[in-house]
Amino acid sequence: MNTFINNLPKAELHLHIEGTFEPELMFKIAQRNGIKLSQKSVAELKESYNFNNLQEFLDIYYAGANVLIHEQDFYDLTWAYLQKAHEQNIVHTEIFFDPQTHTSRGIEFRTVINGIQNALDDGKTKMGITSKLIPNFLRHLDEEDAIRTFNEALKYRDIITGFGLDSSEVGNPPAKFQQVFEMVKAEGFLTVAHAGEEGSAQYIWDALKLLNVSRIDHGIRAADDLLLIEELEKTQVPLTVCPLSNLKLQVVKNISELPIKTMLQQNIMVTINSDDPAYFGGYINENYKAVAEAFNFNKSDILKLAENSFNASFLDNVAKTKWLVKLRDYYNKF
Ligand code: ADE
Ligand code: ZN
Repeated sequence: MNTFINNLPKAELHLHIEGTFEPELMFKIAQRNGIKLSQKSVAELKESYNFNNLQEFLDIYYAGANVLIHEQDFYDLTWAYLQKAHEQNIVHTEIFFDPQTHTSRGIEFRTVINGIQNALDDGKTKMGITSKLIPNFLRHLDEEDAIRTFNEALKYRDIITGFGLDSSEVGNPPAKFQQVFEMVKAEGFLTVAHAGEEGSAQYIWDALKLLNVSRIDHGIRAADDLLLIEELEKTQVPLTVCPLSNLKLQVVKNISELPIKTMLQQNIMVTINSDDPAYFGGYINENYKAVAEAFNFNKSDILKLAENSFNASFLDNVAKTKWLVKLRDYYNKF
């Protein structure tokens, strides 16, 4: 099964580029920029990766991102992820980044997006990985700040596919961002939102009905609401589930508690993703393997998850079909 997963072509749809910041690279860039981290070593930093909830993780994740200053830093961060993605047979990736984490520290929007995009361009030419870029608004900040960020992002509209919503969920409901999401939609962008990670099923309803999102990031709490499950089945709005993230942030005690198997049986468009792999102990293949083991999945279950990753992506239909044919071929020949 592990070899089947390793070599399987996959799309990743829920990946925060700041969450791929490996401790070794963080120390290297911190040193280069003359910044002192509060931990003294890579080992000490890794030891701090023990989270009781989302907020404890976010505090450490935002502190780590503070060492990113120059365009080259954002390039190096993204390039390191792309190399890992290539090793794991990710052929298409839709990357989130948090502009406000950087602009609030005086880093220019263009520094961030140019560094990331240059690496994505090289990922395409050197490794054949296709990608989409999805800035996320930080939901713990106010909507005015999101609107300012959106207006700045418009200069880069040619390289932006959509916008998302992340950070501290509970207490920052989708309704807080209805206006900015309307603006985003009016300018022709796609939208996604984190919902139902720690927040209730109502946050998922609100992301669907108030923000009109095309995908829900996480969405596992949908399992609590039968009407919502029916809605997700009917509309085929995908969920980008991140199993190791949910485990590390103690949303569940065991992967087997996640509603992944049930949702597949209910014909919900579930996908598997890594969220913040440098912090949660695994990239996409480790997530697939954890799920395969927890649910005793066979190869056709895993194939379905990979097919969903392309069907739920923002690729055009020609590219989707190309990958679905390749997947079927891979499965038949394995
Ligand atoms: N930002 C990075 N990872 C996140 C997560 N799992 N939930 C909310 N915001 C995030
Ligand atoms: Zn996330």
